[in-house]
Amino acid sequence: MDSTVFTQRRTRLAQALREAGGGIALIATAPERQRNSDSDHPYRHDSSFHYLTGFEEPTAWLVVQANGATALLCRERDPEHEIWDGLRLGVEAAPAALGVDQAFDVATIDAVMADQLANQPAVWFPSGVGDAVPRRLQTWLEALRARSRSGVECPTVQRDLAPLLAEMRLHKDAGEIATMRRAAQISAGAHARAMRYCGARFRAAPQGSVREYEIEAELLHEFRRHGAQSPAYTSIVAAGANACVLHYAAADAELRAGELCLIDAGCELDGYASDITRTFPADGRFTPAQRELYDIVVAAQEAAIAVTRPGARQRDAHHAAVRVLTQGMLDVGLLDRNAVGDVDAVIASAAYRQFYMHGTGHWLGRDVHDVGEYLALDEAPCEQPNGLGRPVVMKPSRVLAPGMVVTIEPGLYVRPAAGVPERFWNIGIRIEDDALVTDTGCELMSRDVPVVAAEIEALMRGST
Ligand code: GLY
Ligand code: MN
Ligand code: MN
Repeated sequence: MDSTVFTQRRTRLAQALREAGGGIALIATAPERQRNSDSDHPYRHDSSFHYLTGFEEPTAWLVVQANGATALLCRERDPEHEIWDGLRLGVEAAPAALGVDQAFDVATIDAVMADQLANQPAVWFPSGVGDAVPRRLQTWLEALRARSRSGVECPTVQRDLAPLLAEMRLHKDAGEIATMRRAAQISAGAHARAMRYCGARFRAAPQGSVREYEIEAELLHEFRRHGAQSPAYTSIVAAGANACVLHYAAADAELRAGELCLIDAGCELDGYASDITRTFPADGRFTPAQRELYDIVVAAQEAAIAVTRPGARQRDAHHAAVRVLTQGMLDVGLLDRNAVGDVDAVIASAAYRQFYMHGTGHWLGRDVHDVGEYLALDEAPCEQPNGLGRPVVMKPSRVLAPGMVVTIEPGLYVRPAAGVPERFWNIGIRIEDDALVTDTGCELMSRDVPVVAAEIEALMRGST
């Protein structure tokens, strides 16, 4: 493995520490998780630890000092354990393999950390990723305080490393972008495969049904056959009304002709997520009611894509999508104009939230809901609509820049309710793509599967 990019990231982190007053950063990788008795969940490293090291073994820690010195604590070689669990990198090989200055046996962590923490003004560790550091830090600090009479100083300040790491991870470099493009391409292929599969099943047996888990199996097959390590999050395969449950997971419900299938699924490739949603008719033909709503969501996504460019704010896409969705709700009678007023009135009252209750996008990267500040913290607060459309004074949304990656995912979800035209009941639609902000606009990395209704129908007929 070429460690250059990881060394450069650690150097940039040290620089950020210096600019923020100095100190030492401690980053632990993720713990192993027991599933039951002798079985563990598949191991997944901590995203930031891996971003800084490229090291995938569990039980490892990274230390970065503001002066640029770096150290890795990892498991020592162990022939007995390696028979069962595979080769370990080991302490001796780690500096050359990973580009760190020093490596230590993690079994000696208490002594190593006490030494590393000595005479540091501050200790930094990321919040929100488990309690490994804060739980053990007190022991190390106490050991250090006990040495105070010998002239050793103990850090007096503890600071959150998460914002510094988030800021670095928000801006993707060329290698990250290449991996994310490939992840999105694999996931798009999986969605196309699921569409073709349903088309073929209903052509063979128009009165039959397809179980959600059968469709999920098609997705997983496509992810793994192209080398993706796993899904990036729990796949949603929702038949018919299940699409109106936002966090539904693929289960065993039957998908029947005349119903829509909503799939929100993306693979993780080499530590990077993709996140795609498509909604398609089980038997390959949208009904008129489905098509009416589907085309509104397509138009909302187009409006959101159009404002996803450098200089725009991350939240602009949501405002653009909400406006188109709201106009559509009024046009097709989901909302009664006489009761709720015009588009502006509906946006102001947030009445659209009956059918569109989530945001239109999020940062995407190593985590599906990736790290990164959503607000322009360096700007003054101003009055603007909050998530409910109400005016509040808060910092504006962050300005987009090339190299950021966002999802664009508008939807409509119609639960049965008084006053809602029955032909729309139980229709749930979402369309989600992964957009890389470029110098001039955005690149949709996930478009190797169709969005436009007629193109989906053609794919499902087997004609493309
Ligand atoms: N798949 C998670 C999301 O779309 O936010
Ligand atoms: Mn998403
Ligand atoms: Mn999604």
